[in-house]
Amino acid sequence: MTDPATRELRAYYEHEAVARSRGAAAGRRIDAVEAFAVLLAAEGRGSVLDVGAGPATDAGAFTDRSIRYIGVDLAVGNGIVARERGHDVVAGSMFDLPFRPDSFDAGWSMSTLMHVPASDVGRVMREILRPLVVGAPIGIGVWGGPGRDLWSEPDDSGARRLFSLRTASRNRALLEEYGSIEHWEAWDTGPDGWEYHFAILRTPGPSGV
Ligand SMILES: C[S@@+](CC[C@H](N)C(=O)[O-])C[C@H]1O[C@@H](n2cnc3c(N)ncnc32)[C@H](O)[C@@H]1O
Repeated sequence: MTDPATRELRAYYEHEAVARSRGAAAGRRIDAVEAFAVLLAAEGRGSVLDVGAGPATDAGAFTDRSIRYIGVDLAVGNGIVARERGHDVVAGSMFDLPFRPDSFDAGWSMSTLMHVPASDVGRVMREILRPLVVGAPIGIGVWGGPGRDLWSEPDDSGARRLFSLRTASRNRALLEEYGSIEHWEAWDTGPDGWEYHFAILRTPGPSGV
């Protein structure tokens, strides 16, 4: 049984998928995915899992470099749009991913973790890391800002989304519990007071360090 907040979130994104209203990445988001894909190619990594993939917004940067791309998204409709674009996005939740351990060489998740309250980030991070090989890099981008939770205005169907707009130091500290941060950026963008936080995290290697 899905909780009411997740049902609303899914309804919002199913609606967005049908409307095909999610735009392409822009500005520093493009720089981030390009730099991450270059890193994966340089390390000879052959696959990446995109968690909260939307309609495969970022797939091209990986597939252009022959890196196998699989996305997972709460909204079934995003898988349909992704397929039209030649990419695979399966339906599933980042709380319970449909993949076995050691399935992917790297992870990627953009603009998704702010839909999870801070108290649940640890659970989600453990689940995102579970299908990755040891020592995998993972790129994570998240909206943040003033350090408070807010609900969006309802869309046409009445669905709202939780935005847990954590401060940069809070988001950084939450991620640092799951690996070492090799790259960190934060920049002002979007509505007044909002920021975007982007990290490249390295999961612990075989020795656990
Ligand atoms: C703001 S969109 C970002 C999509 C894409 N990563 C991008 O940057 O364009 C957030 C996405 O996260 C997905 N999402 C939200 N909660 C999720 C969950 N629990 N498990 C998997 N995907 C989720 C939504 O369906 C939506 O497609």
